[in-house]
Amino acid sequence: MTNLDDQARAILRQNDMGGYTLPTHGLYPYQWNWDSAFAAWGFATFDNARAWDELDTLMASQWESGMIPHIIFHQPDPGYFPGPDVWQTGQSPATSGISQPPIAAIMARLIFEMDEDAGRERLRALYPRLVDWHRWWHEVRCTHGPAAIVHPWESGRDNCPDWDIGMDGVDGSGVGPYERRDLGHVHADMRPTKEDYDRYIAIVEFGRGVGWNDAKIVSDGPFLMADPGITFMLLRAHDDLAVLGRALGEDVSEIEGWATTLRSALPLIWNDALNAFDARNLRNGAFANILGSGAFLAYLAGAGNPQLETQLLRAWDAVNYGVPSADPETASFNPRKYWRGPTWPVVNALIAIGLNADGRSDLAERLRAETAELIRTHGFYEYFDPVDTTPCGGKNFTWTAAIWLTWAS
Ligand code: DGY
Repeated sequence: MTNLDDQARAILRQNDMGGYTLPTHGLYPYQWNWDSAFAAWGFATFDNARAWDELDTLMASQWESGMIPHIIFHQPDPGYFPGPDVWQTGQSPATSGISQPPIAAIMARLIFEMDEDAGRERLRALYPRLVDWHRWWHEVRCTHGPAAIVHPWESGRDNCPDWDIGMDGVDGSGVGPYERRDLGHVHADMRPTKEDYDRYIAIVEFGRGVGWNDAKIVSDGPFLMADPGITFMLLRAHDDLAVLGRALGEDVSEIEGWATTLRSALPLIWNDALNAFDARNLRNGAFANILGSGAFLAYLAGAGNPQLETQLLRAWDAVNYGVPSADPETASFNPRKYWRGPTWPVVNALIAIGLNADGRSDLAERLRAETAELIRTHGFYEYFDPVDTTPCGGKNFTWTAAIWLTWAS
């Protein structure tokens, strides 16, 4: 047991609100979807029951459609914008109106395999909700082939350059005055711009205006892009959900069908000009033409290839610590600006799971060691400058503590 292990556990406990965990106090004062799934994985290293509790509270927010929202506003907090009064989704508890990377089944499998006896009945209770969420992704968001997002926030990689071509088509000029709260917690240089926020809110206003009708948002909304990151996470999650279903004695043929269909759509997000998987504007078919860390999640879904490895090593070798969230050899690269360059410990953990499965344990170990050094040097920050190690974003961050306990230490 090291001091950092103790600190990581203490962070999970401090951010534990009783059944759900905040990403960090102040900046993110609610339950966030994929943060929560990582939290569960972290809890599983010392409190298996608490890990399943986390997944339970997340899945309990499920909409009738099957969607699991990206934020669950369990209790009022004036420190965050946009709160439930802006989203107006009419859910109880209040939630946002979009989703987030569907990694809960990936984490559920990892947690289940850590203690199958303790987890079997917990998994059995959770399983139908996971299936319904995956069906929602398949039926609502994979109608173009790869997984589509209707808001950059849905990708989890909010302001990465992948979304620039889609955001160009969003008119943020009609959004009324509002006060950002994130800038009270983190320096503006490390957060999205005002132009980004105007557009983020304009997209929320569209969803609210159509009563959060999924079909209208996909057919007429201001933003619709194919996300390589979510596509690969969903594909891996389908496979993991099928493994879990088999362990419970369920018929998993429907899930296997979703996975086969999604895998057959991968050529649609392969950009020959970039020599990598790439985001695509689904309104006009245009590729983003920029390398983002979502492409490297291909390894998680068993979809790595030699060209992608060349791109991974080029981008990674251009910085010093961890896989950068955006291509360091492009003009838009900014090593401290959220998803436009920083390295994110949680994404590194997912990429490493994929690299290990691909037989590249050498690369996975390099990634682990570099991520661990960042955390050892500065603590459990949200993200880091991959060039000079500057810690960025929120501190005492749940998911960074979680991946320390499960992977990086
Ligand atoms: C934020 O508020 O920055 C979040 O990333 C949105 O989910």
